[in-house]
Amino acid sequence: MILEVNDIYTSYGLSQILFGISINVDEGECVALLGRNGVGKTTTLRSIMGLTAPTKGSVVYKGNDITGRASFRVAKMGVGFVPEERRIFSDLSVRENLETGRKPAANGANGGKEWTIDRVHEIFPILEGLSDRKGGYLSGGEQQMLTVGRTLMGNPDLLLLDEPSEGLAPLVVRDLSNQIARLKEEGMTILLCEQNAKFATGLSDRAYILEKGQVRFGGTIDELQENEEIRDQYLGL
Ligand SMILES: Nc1ncnc2c1ncn2[C@@H]1O[C@H](COP(=O)(O)OP(=O)(O)O)[C@@H](O)[C@H]1O
Ligand SMILES: [Mg+2]
Repeated sequence: MILEVNDIYTSYGLSQILFGISINVDEGECVALLGRNGVGKTTTLRSIMGLTAPTKGSVVYKGNDITGRASFRVAKMGVGFVPEERRIFSDLSVRENLETGRKPAANGANGGKEWTIDRVHEIFPILEGLSDRKGGYLSGGEQQMLTVGRTLMGNPDLLLLDEPSEGLAPLVVRDLSNQIARLKEEGMTILLCEQNAKFATGLSDRAYILEKGQVRFGGTIDELQENEEIRDQYLGL
């Protein structure tokens, strides 16, 4: 297991949001974290990233207990976080945005294959043609690709993606889906938060469904599709 989240409870001030969430991710897997708006998906990622420390339970990354550890330290250990709001520098060019993400791999060059701008272009070819364009002039889809690309430049071993498909047109979501699939083929380990279950399950090996800060379901995508109740509620059939 590259990531184990064990029975975490997280709150913002007095409002308790997570009530004993346990999830895990194996190396090379893509795992979906599904659920409607407000169930605690982002809070789970923030708890892993050390942005909001859990009050109970633990987060173990590569065998190290990182519960509540400062987010820059978690990032340095190889966890790449792509937040919901696409944080790009609007006054910097696409190439400069990618450069700002460059960080050495956590443990010796990512299996000898450091991310470069050329490698990011192989995954997101559209970014190559936009190299000199200012970030502020990109479409939503282009911004999303740039945000993921910039995070890849930090050589993560685990990628946390928070609703990457949000607000994107169906054709763009399809492109993004192919690009994430390609990343997975290259061996990237991904925890993918989504409300768009169809998009996420198409990419994932397993899924968890959150409801009101708890795990309602956990299993393989086949198991999810065989569960009529879950399927009807979440896959919109
Ligand atoms: N900074 C915050 N302060 C207080 N409540 C928050 C904060 N961020 C999120 N919440 C609340 O926590 C709950 C879960 O939010 P979130 O984890 O963002 O859900 P999701 O990502 O599944 O949509 C929501 O009810 C939301 O209103
Ligand atoms: Mg969210």
